[in-house]
Amino acid sequence: DKIKVPAPKIQNRQFVKPLLCGPGPCDYWPSVTEAVAYPCITPNCEEFYNVLDEIRAGLQYIFQTQSKLVLAMSGAGHAGMEAVINNLVGPGETLLIAARGVWDQRAEIIAKRLGIKVEVTRVPMNTTFGLEQIETELKRLRPAALFITHGDSSTGTVQKMDGLGQLCHKYGALLLVDTVVSLGGHPFFMDEYEADGVFSSTQKAFSGPAGISPVAFSTRAEEKINNRKHEPSFYFDVKLLAKQWNCYGDTRVYHHTMSPPMLWALRACLQEVSNATLPVVWARNAASTAHFHKRLQEYGFEFFVPKPEERLTTVTTVVLPKGVNYLEFTAVLREKHNILILEGRGPTEGKALRVGIMGANARTEVADILADAMADTLNTMLSSS
Ligand code: GLV
Repeated sequence: DKIKVPAPKIQNRQFVKPLLCGPGPCDYWPSVTEAVAYPCITPNCEEFYNVLDEIRAGLQYIFQTQSKLVLAMSGAGHAGMEAVINNLVGPGETLLIAARGVWDQRAEIIAKRLGIKVEVTRVPMNTTFGLEQIETELKRLRPAALFITHGDSSTGTVQKMDGLGQLCHKYGALLLVDTVVSLGGHPFFMDEYEADGVFSSTQKAFSGPAGISPVAFSTRAEEKINNRKHEPSFYFDVKLLAKQWNCYGDTRVYHHTMSPPMLWALRACLQEVSNATLPVVWARNAASTAHFHKRLQEYGFEFFVPKPEERLTTVTTVVLPKGVNYLEFTAVLREKHNILILEGRGPTEGKALRVGIMGANARTEVADILADAMADTLNTMLSSS
């Protein structure tokens, strides 16, 4: 018998999903749950290209860009991060990283593995950058690009973007932006900010499954891509992917086999946003989080980010009273209320809770359920200690 490894017993499973109120993944739109079961589409059928066209139009809307080089990477948000860095910065070039959380640390790791020279400028993790600090570093280092996180899910901060692209261009640098946890939940205007390489992901304010990562490149970025000296990895090469995505309207070229459920899911997320329109979606996210913050304050919770204008709409970071364990808090909340939130990640580990109300969950009822459950959890923990 050549079969040496016996077949495992894979049983049917029942899983009671908690209410997903962490920094992501967030709950799906019902339309997304339906969309992932749509029929298989393949790179040799007409419908495949129709779907890609619709996704590109939806992405141009959600990024607020008129750029043609807009598509989605097969892979989670990290694929978007790696694609943007790998396509726009070559080995030996300098990438300046504006650091305040865990995602800039990831950018640093990725860039170093690609042979890129990395320089880091920091602010305390519960704040964001002013233009002066960035300008000083751009002037001093003359990097090929600046990497900055718009919404940071590890710290719950949102970076003000006005003038940043213009500043980078003054010093010959491209602007690379992580919008994984902000796009579709917090206002973002790619063209107005003159951002050059922007990536996002679908499991946050998009309210879809992780596994496909929207990316957009400006005309400045396109120029760099067309004139660069280095070859990025084959899988992440946006020049080749642009042909598969028919970005310029005249190519239908096979690059790799994309996941049909992911394409259908992303299309459904974009349909939700386009039907509602961005101003309505942003207002919904802002109103539910403002309500959540009010309820938290009434219960005496404290925020990790002191300045309200630096607090991200989609993810709130909360500081617990001294002596209350963060991991235990999330476990009790899950156990008693079947709600999932997360503790800090990277620099905020053991220092903050990360609570997300976004996308399909951006509703006052969710904010109320969550605030009440968090208050009950804290009382339970304080009374048993
Ligand atoms: C993951 O995306 C996180 O924010 O922890």
